[in-house]
Order: sequence, then C-alpha cells, then structure tokens
Amino acid sequence: MADSSFVSSTRSIPEVSAVPRHIAVIMDGNGRWARKRLMPRVAGHARGVEAVRGVIRACMERGVSYLTLFAFSSENWRRPADEVSFLMQLFMRSLQKEVERLHKNGIRFRVIGDLSRFDAKLVDMIRSAEALTAGNTGLTLSVAANYGGRWDIMQAVNRMMVRHPERRGDFTEDELAAELAMNYGPEPDLFIRTGGEKRISNFLLWQLAYAELYFTDTLWPDFDAKALDEAIASYRQRERRFGRTSEQLQQTSAGASPAKPGEHA
Ligand code: IPE
Ligand code: IPE
Ligand code: MG
Repeated sequence: MADSSFVSSTRSIPEVSAVPRHIAVIMDGNGRWARKRLMPRVAGHARGVEAVRGVIRACMERGVSYLTLFAFSSENWRRPADEVSFLMQLFMRSLQKEVERLHKNGIRFRVIGDLSRFDAKLVDMIRSAEALTAGNTGLTLSVAANYGGRWDIMQAVNRMMVRHPERRGDFTEDELAAELAMNYGPEPDLFIRTGGEKRISNFLLWQLAYAELYFTDTLWPDFDAKALDEAIASYRQRERRFGRTSEQLQQTSAGASPAKPGEHA
C-alpha cells in the first residue's frame, strides 16, 4: 500500500528540501555515444551501466532517498531484435553481478514495469533481488523496465476497479496513486533527461506533475557525479510554487506558518 506520508503535489504542498528527495532519470544517448566512437550501439548500453554505478554512489553520498532509472520503455520493443535481446541480457548480467553489492550498501531495489513480457528467469531474479533488499533503509533504487506511464495509469485504474466493483465514478487521486507501480515512494522532485531530447517519452506521467525538469546534452555514458551536481544546482535555483505566487512563498520563508499537508494554501 502507499505510504500516507507521501504528499500528492496536486492535493497539497510537499516539503521542499535542498537535496531532491527523489530523482528520476531518463538515461538517454547510449547509442549516439557509441556511434560517435564508431562502435556498435550496444557498446553504449554496456558503458551506460558504468554510469549507473557512479550515479547510484553519488546519490547515496548526497543523501538522495529515491533514485528511479528508466532502463527500458514499453516502446523500446520496437527496436531491432538483437538490440532488445542484448539489453535483456545486460539487465540480467548486471543484476546478477550487482545485487550483493547493492544489498551491502543498504540499497532497497525495486523494479517498476510490466514484467509479464520478460523471461521467467529474469522475473525470478528481479523478485529475489527485491526480496533480499526489501528491509534495507538506504537509497531506494527503482529500475523502470518495460515501463510506460500510460500502462501504469491503466493498470492502476483496472486494479482499483477490480478492488471495488460496487463503486462507480467516485474514485479519488489518492486511491489511484496507491495502485501505481511506484506506490512506495514520493513523487520525483527532479527529473533528469540526458542525451539532448526534450521529452518525457511516456515515463512517470502521473508523478511528474510537479517535478522540476532538467535536460542536458550530455550522453548517458558520460553522465557522472559532476553532471549530477550540475543538475542538483539547477534544481536549487528553482522556485517550486505548486500553484502559488512568488510573494506567498516569500512570506512563508519569512516566518509565516507554512501550509500543512492536506491544506490547500
Ligand atoms: C537509452 O539510450 C537507453 C535505452 C533506451 C535502453 P538510446 O539507446 O536511446 O541511445 P540513443 O538515443 O539512440 O543515442
Ligand atoms: C527513453 O529513451 C527510454 C529509456 C531511456 C529507457 P528512448 O531513446 O527510447 O526515447 P525516444 O524514443 O527517443 O523518445
Ligand atoms: Mg534514445
């Protein structure tokens, strides 16, 4: 079930901190990174895994609580079969190799997405990695695999309706959010997309409602701790108004009582 301490950005005003509590990343540009070096696209994916390691470490050091990485979208099945199969193998190999290390570092590992299209072996590995790390209280690392924001919203709607066949048309935002694949974390504060494209590509559609968006031309394999710091620095410059005026925010920071969760300021 969803944790009720996660404030929905459209229903009330979440707390804002200097370090984003949740960072969500579209790791784009692997193929172009490899092409620039006259290597096959898949070499870029392999290097992308190295960048993942660095960013996980950097997030832990900076006190980020949730990191969500888009690894494979519902639309990525449209790619050439050999690239898709390389990505699946890479996911399996990385999981196999890294799970112990994630666990030792106190990381809670989760996968969001439609696992029904994956190999039974891969699904088993995912489930056991999730079970192994379920009690960890450090960084929550979520990997979005065969994930699509529309898929997520639809599966949530369907689950909600199956759960309450007697109800008609009176569901709330909170009830729907509780059925989303990522019902265990707050909404992203900071969204990062590498690789230069300026689009959401069907990532966390529901939860990105009030995320701060950051786009960089840096290709994913080149994205390191310094690049992450630049993204966080940009985030710190933002005024997160959540519908209010700038004047209201200044009053709040000057000592007026801040809006409490559940209160519509
Ligand atoms: C992102 O890199 C990784 C995945 C989608 C799996 P791309 O493979 O999309 O790289 P570009 O965009 O072609 O450079
Ligand atoms: C988005 O990247 C998905 C992932 C990074 C896994 P794509 O490279 O597939 O996005 P589009 O198709 O260019 O929008
Ligand atoms: Mg791409």
